[in-house]
Amino acid sequence: MSRSTGASQRALRPVAPGDRGRLHVAIIMDGNGRWAKRRGLPRAFGHREGVAALRRTVEAAPDFGIERLTVFGFSTENWRRPPPEVSELMSLMKAYFHSDLGRLARGGVRIRILGRREGLEPEILKIVEEAERRTASNDRFHLQVAFNYGGRADIVDAARAFAQQVADGRAAPDDLDEALFERGLSTAPASAPDLIIRTSGERRLSNFLLWECAYSELVFQDVLWPDYGPEALKAAVADFHGRERRFGGAVVDDVLATG
Ligand code: IPE
Ligand code: IPE
Ligand code: MG
Repeated sequence: MSRSTGASQRALRPVAPGDRGRLHVAIIMDGNGRWAKRRGLPRAFGHREGVAALRRTVEAAPDFGIERLTVFGFSTENWRRPPPEVSELMSLMKAYFHSDLGRLARGGVRIRILGRREGLEPEILKIVEEAERRTASNDRFHLQVAFNYGGRADIVDAARAFAQQVADGRAAPDDLDEALFERGLSTAPASAPDLIIRTSGERRLSNFLLWECAYSELVFQDVLWPDYGPEALKAAVADFHGRERRFGGAVVDDVLATG
């Protein structure tokens, strides 16, 4: 096995279905707007209920063997939404950490914010930095919030970081392998998600974890995000445990059968 393949597989640390612990689950929390529309309410109401769903989901996650939860809160493309909606989403990010940071920190949750910091207002930056600093020594559970995050932007940033190392004479082009490249991603050094869930019935990734999703299992659920909670999460994890992950290899039983 080549050096790069071995290092990369170690970095991925995949969890096999049936292994009930240490799961990394990522969620594209989608459907807030439709939830509100169905009730004849402004979209902002859906986003507010979405925060309650996030709270329920974070609380329930450890019960299902999840040790790391990565949620998509705001994409690099979400700036295209009308300014009042963008502003509402920014306010909710602040409100979530204002109300929940103390409890999360005391509960042993380590928080990381993924994505570009440039472009975020100073008040959000302050909250993000405080959340990461206050929880830096926790490791009971990991909550990663992708905010102003785009998979392509993250890959470009990692490429830029490596190009800078070459320009500074700290690396040569041939040094680049998957493991080294991954170190420049905002998800580093965390494992890749074992399972990516998208709610609301949409079946696409919308620029989420493009590098990391290579061998993630995908589960699409019809539930709108504000209605999400322990039951839906349990169903998604059960679906994951019924899958067979092969990572390009062959099924062990079939190899034995065919010699
Ligand atoms: C997800 O819900 C929240 C964010 C993208 C920030 P949406 O706002 O995308 O809801 P729909 O997809 O319009 O229903
Ligand atoms: C993805 O959902 C982003 C988040 C959940 C934060 P979108 O609702 O923005 O994605 P599209 O536009 O339907 O692809
Ligand atoms: Mg959406």
